[in-house]
Amino acid sequence: MIPFLDVKKINSRFEKDYSEALKSFLNSGQFILGDKLEQFEKEFADFCGTKFCLGVGNGLDALTLILKAYIVLGKLKEGDEVLVQANTYIASILAIKQVNLVPILVEPCTETYNISISDFKSKIGKKTKAVLPVHLYGQLSDMEQVNRIAQDYNLLVIEDAAQAHGSSDKYGVRAGNLSNAAAFSFYPTKNLGALGDGGAITTNDYDLYTVASKLRNYGGNIKYKYEHIGVNSRLDEIQAAFLSIKLPYLQADNEKRKIIAKKYLDGIKNSKIQLPKNDNSHVFYAFVIRCVERDNLQQFLFENGVQTAIHYPIPPHKQKALEELNILKLPVSETLHNQVLSLPISPVQSMGVTQKIINIINQF
Ligand SMILES: Cc1ncc(COP(=O)(O)O)c(C=O)c1O
Repeated sequence: MIPFLDVKKINSRFEKDYSEALKSFLNSGQFILGDKLEQFEKEFADFCGTKFCLGVGNGLDALTLILKAYIVLGKLKEGDEVLVQANTYIASILAIKQVNLVPILVEPCTETYNISISDFKSKIGKKTKAVLPVHLYGQLSDMEQVNRIAQDYNLLVIEDAAQAHGSSDKYGVRAGNLSNAAAFSFYPTKNLGALGDGGAITTNDYDLYTVASKLRNYGGNIKYKYEHIGVNSRLDEIQAAFLSIKLPYLQADNEKRKIIAKKYLDGIKNSKIQLPKNDNSHVFYAFVIRCVERDNLQQFLFENGVQTAIHYPIPPHKQKALEELNILKLPVSETLHNQVLSLPISPVQSMGVTQKIINIINQF
């Protein structure tokens, strides 16, 4: 069976360096909020081109802490509306809910699957105070338009960059540096994945950085002195050390993903299948095709030895957890949820395997 994603193989490339990092970590006796986190934060800020980076427990917390920090800073208040695309992973919406802001779901664009600029504009109301574009599947949202409209309506812009490490716009500006603040996830399957949970906030906003750095540590940076109602959400030293080992390889890994994507784009010739739009920003966290007979196609691939995934099978507004959103009608998003299928893609996938997958798809 061709696996959807071989996380073990991705990480075995770094086994020797991980072992050395583990030894040095044990010797240091510093397990939380130490030098290794500080070093990774500096490296990741440099990579994204931002002034600041803050390592946190996971991507969901990164989003939640940004929103919470803006509440502390008085730039948002409970009940304010945050626009977010409807076909995102549920975490983007949970973050908004967790700090008592109101998620307003925006339809995705039918070509890029990222936020529809026209629907975004049409849903801005008196209570709208922020927009949360998600760089879904590794492709940048149209940040030029998002930022222009946000400026016109005085909205905060928060990138959900959980799937887009290293993607950059036509000016070379990278995800994480295209808004007021951005959230990253280092969940093991991500383009930059830790060996457990992890996340980061990147920003050029010193005030946001300062407040969020307190919020991730119970509400204060000085031991036993607390200024805010914080949480415990720090990126572990050992995960920071592992991420520092992997970061220098991220862009080469993204290039390998792009080469596989190009092979899929050139090789898949099946009138039942719609291929993704290939713009230069795409770092192909997922290679997502569309097919009206998606479930049959998935079964066909499985029977022929190819494991696939669906990002995501149930739209957030149809989830029981988000009952108040169940009444929404979002036809574009709903159609996409019924049709999308993610093919195997990773920096350790061979061209031979990719060709094999193409041949099977072309027989469907
Ligand atoms: C778009 C998006 N946002 C947020 C998250 C949440 O990240 P984490 O799993 O690290 O909490 C994810 C993770 O899968 C994601 O894909």
